[in-house]
This record gives sequence, structure tokens and C-alpha cells, in this order.
Amino acid sequence: MSKIEQYQQLLSSGMSYSQQAITLLSKKLLPQKRYDHVLRVLDTALILADQFDITDKDEITVAAIFHDFAKGMTSDELAKYALIYNINLGQAIPSAYHAIVGSWMVSHFFNIHDRDILEAIYYHTTGSINFLTNKTGAILFLADYIEPGRPQKIDHVQQFIPQNLNRALREVVKSKICNTIHRNKEIDNHSIDFYHRLLQEQ
Ligand SMILES: [Fe+2]
Ligand SMILES: [Fe+2]
Repeated sequence: MSKIEQYQQLLSSGMSYSQQAITLLSKKLLPQKRYDHVLRVLDTALILADQFDITDKDEITVAAIFHDFAKGMTSDELAKYALIYNINLGQAIPSAYHAIVGSWMVSHFFNIHDRDILEAIYYHTTGSINFLTNKTGAILFLADYIEPGRPQKIDHVQQFIPQNLNRALREVVKSKICNTIHRNKEIDNHSIDFYHRLLQEQ
């Protein structure tokens, strides 16, 4: 039985989405380095949820644990996978492929159909204007960027937490856009739209 089948069986046996259960399970599915990152993102997301007074943390827990589920595949493998399973990558940049395919996998393998969770995973790399209303997506986007294992300096984001979520989000998307420019890579349209909307929100 594959790990995914084992996991499907455990989920369908009525297990709740508690943090403990899913992290335990995800350990079997993810390589150690990715697992450690996911745990740090989860911890950071739960702290952020408290700071932003989000009481129901189930969505955030599930989104954080599954957000990099497809990260182990290369861009080429993800593009091939998307072709086989008819997953529309649209105009996405290659670094966002794992987020789009990961969202599809989570919905198809684990029967998770909560729109906020799937959207949070789908846009966790680029950000999206949907995160102005989808708090799960907003928290995951922030947590993935500021988790303590990241090398970048994050003071420019932290100074706006917890007073100003939109400003913190803006700092993250701005930083991601600037990094992409420095690396002479293409910028995803969702990041640009998100940045513009966040500018209007202040
Ligand atoms: Fe990711
Ligand atoms: Fe991540």
C-alpha cells in the first residue's frame, strides 16, 4: 500500500484534522527537510492566527501541513503531471507549479474540498487578491515567508504584525516581486494584482 493510500485510509477512518494527527501522518509523506519546513510554517501560522484573533485554526492547520505537498517534484515533472491529469497551469510561473498541483492533489487524494484551504495552497507562492478575504490564505502566505528557517531578513514584515495584516502582506509580496526581478525571472500576474490591491487598501 502506498503512503498516499495509507493516509487516505487513516483520514477516511474518521480521524479529525487535529494538528497532532496530521503532522504525525505528514511525516511519513514528506522528506525530512520539507517536513521540518512544514512544521515551522505550521507553528508560525498558529502563532499568527492567535495574533490576528482567528479562533478556528483547523483550516490554517490543514493548509499549512499540505501547502508544499507537491514540492518534491521538479517543474518539468509538475508540468507533465498537470498535462496527464488535465490540471490547468494557465500563465503560472514554474515556481508556482507545485502550489497549483499540490492544491489539486490535496483535493483529489484526501477529499479536502474546503475552498479557503485549496485556494490558500494554490496561491501560497504568488499571493492572490483573494487573500484580502481568505484569512487562511493570508496567514499561510505570511507564515511561509517568515518561518524561522528562512534566510531572508523579515523585520520589514514583523513590524506590521499584528496591527496591520494588509501591510505585512504587502511587504511579503513586494519582497517576492523584487527578488524575482533580481533573479531576472518572470513575475506572476497574481503577485502584481495582489500588490496593487494591497496598495489601495492602506
Ligand atoms: Fe511552496
Ligand atoms: Fe513552503
